[in-house]
Amino acid sequence: MPGDLMEQVVNLAKRRGFVFPSAEIYGGFRSTYDYGPLGVLLLRNVKEAWWRSMVQLRDDVVGLDAAILSAPKVWEASGHLVNFTDPLVDCRSCKERWRADQIEGVCPNCGSKDLTDARAFNLMFKTFVGPVEEEANVAYLRPETAQGMFYNFLNVLQTSRKKPPFGIAQMGKSFRNEITPGNFVFRTREFEQMEMEFFVPPDEGAAWFEYWCRERLRWYVDLGIPDDQLRLRMHEADELSHYSAGTADVEFLYPWGWGELEGIANRTDYDLTQHSKHSGVKLEYFDQGTGTRYVPHVIEPAAGATRAMMAFLLAAYDEDEVGGEARTVLRLHPRLAPYKVAVLPLSKKDTLVPTTREVLELLQPHFMCEYDDTQSIGRRYRRQDEIGTPYAVTVDFDTLEDRAVTIRERDSTDQIRVPIEKLVDELKERLT
Ligand code: GAP
Repeated sequence: MPGDLMEQVVNLAKRRGFVFPSAEIYGGFRSTYDYGPLGVLLLRNVKEAWWRSMVQLRDDVVGLDAAILSAPKVWEASGHLVNFTDPLVDCRSCKERWRADQIEGVCPNCGSKDLTDARAFNLMFKTFVGPVEEEANVAYLRPETAQGMFYNFLNVLQTSRKKPPFGIAQMGKSFRNEITPGNFVFRTREFEQMEMEFFVPPDEGAAWFEYWCRERLRWYVDLGIPDDQLRLRMHEADELSHYSAGTADVEFLYPWGWGELEGIANRTDYDLTQHSKHSGVKLEYFDQGTGTRYVPHVIEPAAGATRAMMAFLLAAYDEDEVGGEARTVLRLHPRLAPYKVAVLPLSKKDTLVPTTREVLELLQPHFMCEYDDTQSIGRRYRRQDEIGTPYAVTVDFDTLEDRAVTIRERDSTDQIRVPIEKLVDELKERLT
């Protein structure tokens, strides 16, 4: 394994256009990041893979995209206004701020034990809607996507004609005023979540909780994270969030040790009951079969898209040797790879360009492709390996005679010759 994995991945992410420190020309902006040409593709692919497994391949989950700006009433009902806090302490010597639960009474910056008492710091970003900055106009940026799915429970139930057990899934930005963001995109103030609220009859909560723990762990393994870098950890009673009757974390082995990748919580009827109380609208399900009315319990697999993207990058990073030459290779699952196919003329000679362009246009409707005609072919292969492109298609001088091209596979570097007319089918078979 490479020396400092974290450093290598952060460097690669910057150098190849996955993730840039935000507003870098102004010196950056406080642990905020921008996703470059490759990062935006990788992040989309992570979200797309989640949506595919959680929504497309199931008939018991539907989608939603709720507003990010939201009313204080939502957060009063959910408990976030009171409970969504971290204990904050200041170091009186160096003035740094810390989360009290992360530092064991000693300032990690200067070693001083002269710390203020901990005070509860609410993590929600507050803003004002409209021109007047007064209490009546306060709004919050959502700190989780979950609540939109609870307050839309009846809308979705009535329009989708689903009945428990069924789920609502949503992906999108969330915002938390984290006291100690860091470790690249592991913890940021603006990030993306992929959450699903699964509504079940109350007596089925425990069984569905176990089901979703297994499913979610498997999702990461299926997308290429080795299973010895993943584990499921049950929360101790004193770790549970204010709404949870049981939580398990899918943990990943980050370079600094085991840490949370996704949380799966048994939220019981907490959220629907709270929103019923605060809104005055009964959020229940009436089972016509049995004539009973109940408040469904909720099992919630809550993942971070940006955090998952980072875990996939860390797990995929590798260095090996090909033909006596060192290379860096991202062994990303083809579903996640930013580009699926690189289309390369063997040389820059004008004679090859029209056919290479023809191959590119043939492939573009089916796959995200990159065309590259710079440098030697060996260097271009290395560049594609480094960004995880699973296949490179090369047009050479024989192509002009036999209408066949070479497909090179990223991991093995094996090459096969394929007629252009069979290329789309051949790649489709390999990529799906
Ligand atoms: N609705 C439940 C909920 O939001 P959470 O454990 O606070 O649960 C779920 O968040 C996931 O969102 C986490 O496992 C993590 O992947 C991601 N996440 C949370 N805070 C984050 C942050 N500040 N930066 C990046 N990802 C974060």
